[in-house]
Amino acid sequence: MIKILLFVLVFNYTVSDTITNRTITPKHVKKRILISTLFSKKFFITEKTTDACRWLKGFKYQREQCQKRKGLAEVLNNARKYAIAECEDQFRYYRWNCSYTKDMFKKAYRETAFMQSLATAAIMFSTAKACTDGKLQNCHCAEETPSKRPDMKWGGCGDNTKKAAHITRRFMRVHHPSEKFRDVLNHSIEVGVKAVTENEKVHCYCPGGTTCAIKLCWKRIQPFVNIAQKLQYRYHSAIQVNSKNLLNKSSWRKQHADSLLYASNSTDFCGMTAGRRCINKDNCATLCCTRGYYEQKVVVPRRCHPKYHDCCYKVTYDICQNEEYIYYCK
Ligand SMILES: *[C@@H]1O[C@H](CO)[C@@H](O)[C@H](O)[C@H]1NC(C)=O
Ligand SMILES: *[C@@H]1O[C@H](CO)[C@@H](O)[C@H](O)[C@H]1NC(C)=O
Ligand SMILES: *[C@@H]1O[C@H](CO)[C@@H](O)[C@H](O)[C@H]1NC(C)=O
Ligand SMILES: *[C@@H]1O[C@H](CO)[C@@H](O)[C@H](O)[C@H]1NC(C)=O
Ligand SMILES: *[C@@H]1O[C@H](CO)[C@@H](O)[C@H](O)[C@H]1NC(C)=O
Repeated sequence: MIKILLFVLVFNYTVSDTITNRTITPKHVKKRILISTLFSKKFFITEKTTDACRWLKGFKYQREQCQKRKGLAEVLNNARKYAIAECEDQFRYYRWNCSYTKDMFKKAYRETAFMQSLATAAIMFSTAKACTDGKLQNCHCAEETPSKRPDMKWGGCGDNTKKAAHITRRFMRVHHPSEKFRDVLNHSIEVGVKAVTENEKVHCYCPGGTTCAIKLCWKRIQPFVNIAQKLQYRYHSAIQVNSKNLLNKSSWRKQHADSLLYASNSTDFCGMTAGRRCINKDNCATLCCTRGYYEQKVVVPRRCHPKYHDCCYKVTYDICQNEEYIYYCK
């Protein structure tokens, strides 16, 4: 019965489209975007299933890659964990706390742009690390152009950010009927890539011991938390695009390669902060909107009275019962 009903609905829909000749969104132009499933925790419950790429259902290219390329399913799973964990951590004391609602992916909000950049960075980070560890098919250590400096050479195994960026860009690509939406989220991809690239650090070592005629150097991406912090800052300073600042001009976009962009104003999220914990009175004033907060006195055991022992560079402590306050939004 249900099957028949469904068929009738689909049939009617197709017919009416032909008659009115309204533009039908081509099959490959999706309104769903990857981050709407990437940030969903629904699929972690079934992590042990045989199909580790199941969460990519409906994303043809991505799912194919995930299934075909050895090591990628694992890379993506790690990336999702990094992205969700850091998003929640960075926004713990903000009105929007990285809570997941489907509406968030329908327009190019500030939050959407942030999630897109964070997901990009997480996949790129995770990919580069897997390349270094030899855990991703067809990806190896970075190949740097030979150094011009006479006292250093690239050696060891550097994180392959170039290859990782290439894989990630293709993976994150947005197909969406709205040009503005597409452009804003495409820009987020570049912001995410840049955050990772800028977080690389050069490490060197002297093969000859103390006499360092030529150092061997390689690049290593710093921990993901640094990248997430940077992107959180970009979230707060995001720029709204409108007809004046011309999102469609590539020169303008290049000029703002460090800024997240967004198109639509989100709500103030005040309806979602009741019962949330805030960190101090200032934070509560913002987080709890105009509703105020509760105080609760708690006794917290903490280390105190350090005693230094000359003999062995040892410090011992007592445990004191400290009275502290914790705050919750009304
Ligand atoms: C449908 O629209 C296309 C352009 O989008 C146009 O070329 C074509 O003539 C239209 N067909 C009808 C039946 O109106
Ligand atoms: C995405 O943005 C980058 C850099 O701004 C640009 O080079 C690229 O062509 C864009 N891609 C799409 C599909 O718009
Ligand atoms: C793109 O920018 C030009 C001006 O440079 C403007 O005339 C045009 O309307 C813009 N297009 C869109 C889709 O915003
Ligand atoms: C979004 O909000 C800002 C300030 O809160 C306002 O200046 C701007 O006009 C709003 N934009 C839209 C498209 O509503
Ligand atoms: C975010 O806030 C919502 C609504 O108050 C709450 O249910 C959720 O547990 C919070 N998430 C985290 C990670 O703290």
